[in-house]
Amino acid sequence: MNSPDSNIKPIGVFDSGYGGLTILKEIVKELPQYDYIYLGDNARAPYGTRSFETVYDYTLQCVQQLFSMGCELVILACNTASAKALRTIQQKDLPLIAPHKRVLGVIRPTTEIVGNYSKTKHIGVLGTTGTVTSNSYPIEIEKFYPDYTVHQEACPMWVPLVENNEFNSDGADFYIKKHLDNLLLKDKNIDTIILGCTHYPLLINKIKQHLPKGITILAQGEIVAKSLALYLHKHPEIESKCTKEGSIRFFTTDSPENFDAAASIFFEKKVQSAHLSL
Ligand code: DGL
Repeated sequence: MNSPDSNIKPIGVFDSGYGGLTILKEIVKELPQYDYIYLGDNARAPYGTRSFETVYDYTLQCVQQLFSMGCELVILACNTASAKALRTIQQKDLPLIAPHKRVLGVIRPTTEIVGNYSKTKHIGVLGTTGTVTSNSYPIEIEKFYPDYTVHQEACPMWVPLVENNEFNSDGADFYIKKHLDNLLLKDKNIDTIILGCTHYPLLINKIKQHLPKGITILAQGEIVAKSLALYLHKHPEIESKCTKEGSIRFFTTDSPENFDAAASIFFEKKVQSAHLSL
């Protein structure tokens, strides 16, 4: 089941669990012609509270697995992995293990375009503890928009709410309101908020309910999909290696039955996965 099909060179999409499916969904809408493999490391999720070393080790292992399944290009559809592992993988590991393959993340495409939305130049970022403490968002935003002010808020309860199917429950309101209030207390001029975790789009209705009108909420799916389309256009040496039969395969490191039941909520379509041992 895990052996590579030598004729298929899919684009790999990786997340610690289900969240990356919100990204894959939009990528497939934008670029339906390609083949895809999704890998969710559900057995070791969540990543958001783990150390740099652990997130890096797990992410590298999953990237290598996707390479061994024929991927020439892997998207880290996880902010925590993008924040804590991407740079080291790109700079240190790829030149040694696969110099012609590519790994891309979700933070850069999101930070690049915040200027299209913010008038006040005050940005809020919501993410896991790992993403927030890495400071990746403020660092990346500063590269594109040095005069912007960025405030962050870690929301450690939001991923468990989503993973436990409690994202529409009354109980969710408490933690959603708490973190939005905290963020806006740090800076009342914020007019654009980045959902810097791929799980958070499932909370968007409740987030909207608890935010004052006039604040733009940026979810990453469409942004990453459009950025990938542009990347493939600009990099024919990678694009030409990706096969185009329109297939999608799903793998999880945990139980496929559990994965399939929850994944369809994130992917908005029925999902049939297979187990993968790392
Ligand atoms: N989906 C991950 C992210 O975007 C968070 C989930 C986790 O903590 O594993 O950061």
